[in-house]
Amino acid sequence: MQPVIDFLKQNESRFIDELCEYVRFPSVSAQPQHRPDMKACAEWVVRRCERIGLQAQLCQTQGHPIVLAKTPKHNGSRPHFLVYGHYDVQPPEPFELWKTPPFEPRIEGRSIFARGASDNKGQNLAHLAAVEAYFKTGTELPCDLTFVIEGEEEVGSASLATFLKERKDELKCNAVVISDTGMPDKRVPALTYALRGIAAFEIILHGPARDLHSGIFGGTVDNPAMALCQMLARLRDENGRVAIPGFYDDVEELSAYEREQFARLPFTEAQYQHMLGVPKLFGEKGYTAFEQRSARPTLEINGLTSGYQGEGSKTIIPAWARVKITTRLVPNQNPAKIIELVASHLKKICPPTVRMEIKSGHGAEPYIVSPTSSQAQAALRALKSAFGAEPILMREGGSIPIVNDFKKILGVDTLMLGLALPDDNAHSPNEKFDLDCFAKGQLMSAYLWQELAKK
Ligand code: BES
Ligand code: MN
Repeated sequence: MQPVIDFLKQNESRFIDELCEYVRFPSVSAQPQHRPDMKACAEWVVRRCERIGLQAQLCQTQGHPIVLAKTPKHNGSRPHFLVYGHYDVQPPEPFELWKTPPFEPRIEGRSIFARGASDNKGQNLAHLAAVEAYFKTGTELPCDLTFVIEGEEEVGSASLATFLKERKDELKCNAVVISDTGMPDKRVPALTYALRGIAAFEIILHGPARDLHSGIFGGTVDNPAMALCQMLARLRDENGRVAIPGFYDDVEELSAYEREQFARLPFTEAQYQHMLGVPKLFGEKGYTAFEQRSARPTLEINGLTSGYQGEGSKTIIPAWARVKITTRLVPNQNPAKIIELVASHLKKICPPTVRMEIKSGHGAEPYIVSPTSSQAQAALRALKSAFGAEPILMREGGSIPIVNDFKKILGVDTLMLGLALPDDNAHSPNEKFDLDCFAKGQLMSAYLWQELAKK
């Protein structure tokens, strides 16, 4: 192993240059104008994989292409692990809040700033660097590896499930490894054993056939923006709970044991509040902030629009109002059932003065896995060796839609060894990735294959 570790150290600055190249692609999966950038980025990943000695191919899908790359000569006699990551990123808007442009990487201290640096390009590149170190130093990998790096994670991974079904045999493996979650602090590595699920939808309230003069007509027709705000205001109660009948019915309560463990994490609400810049934290009564963000369901407005948004004023009653909403779900809740509950409740509270259209979007089930399996123990040992500190177990609030499909289609569990810090600004302006997390992530990946191959 020493040559592998030395190689990673010696090539540290080249790996950073490669990450800079990778984040220059504006691979925004949600925006159709970036289709060519998506393809170019995927092709870059294929070339990067080939250069380090992996057998790589670009696989077309109904949506964005998937990169599939394998260590040579899989022979079925060694354990096989699948490493999943995504090259797509969230939209960079609002541009004006970025200190430097989102797709022009800037290094400042031990951080690289760019959209996708943390979520998820830096994290999947760490795994590729580790494999390169094995190959270039002639160190035998104790297992076979397959990398699946997709381009639709940030929009719900619609194509990947089909891909898994089509290639079920060739992707048969012992476990999936993902670095696309967080760690609480640079010095505290973490193994994540649960993720929240998600259900996304959009509501459009249609009012008059066109924008109307609010003086001439105001008072006689409903204002869709007002009606929508009144409906939305009814979706939560004064205890911070989602006020939709049946919403909590299937929620699995946290065990006393888990609550005890969470309370021991290096997480203080005062620091958390400061980091987020809010005047006061908000949340469901009866739960700590850590519990609220990882193990309780929510309903959030992600975007809200209607009427005139330009400078100055315009006196109209808008023709329509629109809101984008997602709910985060916890173990035992089902996205399709939740969408139904929400839709039927909305129908009940929608006034007859507007017409409501509901579009349901992507969904993903919540995920939870045993943190005591022998694979999880191996992952904990790899984290400890790389970071030189005792790793913690945690639940995360974000979603990775495909993890449930890995279980359902390939029949395997996913180990989530995240490298993102709480202040990485994922999905926000000035996203960054910590270069120490990058380097230690590479080491972790190098150790992981040794630990997982141990019987
Ligand atoms: N890396 C995140 C998920 C994540 C972040 C998990 C932090 C745990 C902790 C992933 O790229 C992501 O953002 N997923 C989306 C999925 C959605 C668009 C279907 C999410 O959670 O919003
Ligand atoms: Mn993301």
